Amino acid sequence: MCGIFGYIGSKNSIKVTLQGLKRLEYRGYDSAGIAGIKNGKIVYRKEVGKVANLEEEVERSHLDLELAIAQTRWATHGKVTQVNAHPHLDTHQTLALVHNGIIENHDILKRQLQEKGVKFISDTDTEVIAQLIASLYQGDILQAVQQAIGLLKGSYAIALIHQDFPNQIIAVAHEAPLVIGIGNHEAFISSDPHAFAFHTRQVIYLMNAEIAVIKADQQEIYNADQDPIVKESQWLEKLSADQSKGEFEHYTLKEIFEQPQAIRSALLARFSLDQGTAVFDELNFSQLNLMAAERILILACGTSWHAGYLASYLLEDKARLPVQVEISSEFRYKNPVVSSGTLVIAISQSGETADTIAAVREVKSKGSQVLAICNVQGSTLVREADSSIFLRAGAEIGVCSTKAFTSQVTVLSLLTLLLARMRHMSKSEGQEFIHALLKLPDQVQWILDKAATIEALAKRYAHYEHFFYLGRHFMYPTSLEGALKLKEIAYVNANGYPAGEMKHGPIALIDKSCLTVALCANQLTFDKMVSNLMEIKARDGQILSIVEDNQTSLEKIVDDQILIPDTIDELAAILATIVTQLFAYYVAKERGAEIDQPRNLAKSVTVE
Ligand code: F6R
Repeated sequence: MCGIFGYIGSKNSIKVTLQGLKRLEYRGYDSAGIAGIKNGKIVYRKEVGKVANLEEEVERSHLDLELAIAQTRWATHGKVTQVNAHPHLDTHQTLALVHNGIIENHDILKRQLQEKGVKFISDTDTEVIAQLIASLYQGDILQAVQQAIGLLKGSYAIALIHQDFPNQIIAVAHEAPLVIGIGNHEAFISSDPHAFAFHTRQVIYLMNAEIAVIKADQQEIYNADQDPIVKESQWLEKLSADQSKGEFEHYTLKEIFEQPQAIRSALLARFSLDQGTAVFDELNFSQLNLMAAERILILACGTSWHAGYLASYLLEDKARLPVQVEISSEFRYKNPVVSSGTLVIAISQSGETADTIAAVREVKSKGSQVLAICNVQGSTLVREADSSIFLRAGAEIGVCSTKAFTSQVTVLSLLTLLLARMRHMSKSEGQEFIHALLKLPDQVQWILDKAATIEALAKRYAHYEHFFYLGRHFMYPTSLEGALKLKEIAYVNANGYPAGEMKHGPIALIDKSCLTVALCANQLTFDKMVSNLMEIKARDGQILSIVEDNQTSLEKIVDDQILIPDTIDELAAILATIVTQLFAYYVAKERGAEIDQPRNLAKSVTVE
């Protein structure tokens, strides 16, 4: 969702800022804008659509700025228009600001300002902040910002410039990520440090209600009480500057093909074959704490929730712990019962998902310890959790989550192994599980090598408008994930459903215009699944099955099959998911959908 970037230093501000903005495109957005100061005046440009449109306009108008702030906007308040795009200025154009998040009391503040005669030109909550700060300004911009944020309710990351202070950017963060990059006589501000990784890895994260006055050579930080504070910067070793697509047409395809390596990285040095167990060096919960866990609560959204749902089957089966899996946006308003023996696991690729962070804050306020499973070092979730396990999947740029999901399931499988070995699992069972895990990267590669077959089938079915993804047991969460991929990148209506539930209603939708993608790679429920497919066939439904390559009995029932290598039921979900990712990718391509940045979607969902 919206991305902020700003630069102050001796390099070409526009070039550096637009380059930074492009590296935030993955977050999903619909318009972009830039503002800076030139000869003591605020100058700005905004465009609907891609950063490339803004870049063209900047070149066409020979824009030149001494420092710059910029933003990619994902519309919340007000339509996608040039006027609603950021930056927003006050009426007299003395200041410009960009904002991520939502100001919940913008209506009331707007009315108060209008009563004083302030005229608004946009429908955004952001313009309210700009006008509010300008109305409070009496020569000290820091003081005006401090007073204004005392009046704001909601979440915000803000970068602001004022014509009277041409050598500084003011940045404020409250429940929205914002990080300062400290370079050599230069400084950056961004929603994501990857955006300035080419220039520096020395960073300071702004925490709740902190304000920074950023100059090229100096950064002053103030806490919520407006007192100056000293914050140590950190060096982000693993920040990746490389964000190229390489030989691939889309990031999504590149990331699907990176999965053998991502799984290897997730496994690396995280198990002991001797002991038949998992080892997480970074896990700072004591053995005693882990042994004391009586139940597990998993919090996540979207694809991460699917990984958590899948893990709940694993954890209950192997570690014999009751598991509750909650969608964060539902959980946070539940007044949940969280007992002292509950281990909370929060799963998030980005570590910035607003609902998951809010759910984590809710359980922490009740005294729980939280383990984060995350891909992004230094993210808000990681900073707030008591301990974190990293996916090590590398940056995921495609909005649709692919390699993060398989890495999450791999890490959760290892975590299950650790908890299971502390309880009922024998050493030899643990060793067998590790052997199966170690085979996964090659098995994933086996499927990727057959991408052309999957592409051909995707082309055959790309014109269908209705899809069911059916599965049982581990294949049920897998079906949810498969259907989500198709919905989000191919814009096709797809339902993930437990196969056994079809006869309780949804089977009414089956006819020859509907394709059922049957996830048949679960040995425990295979026969039951076959019966469900017979019911689909009896109603003229088309069936494409995903099945293990030793299983031939479906050939006469289904219309088409995609084979995956044999593995244990617990891990077949990873292999079946690779097929559903490729299938969705090729259907999307055939339908001409925009794959890396699907319409209406954002990579980091930083609003509720
Ligand atoms: C789907 C997808 C989303 C995310 C969800 C949670 O492909 O990407 O459903 O999984 O927005 O995001 P994270 O994992 O960053 O919390």
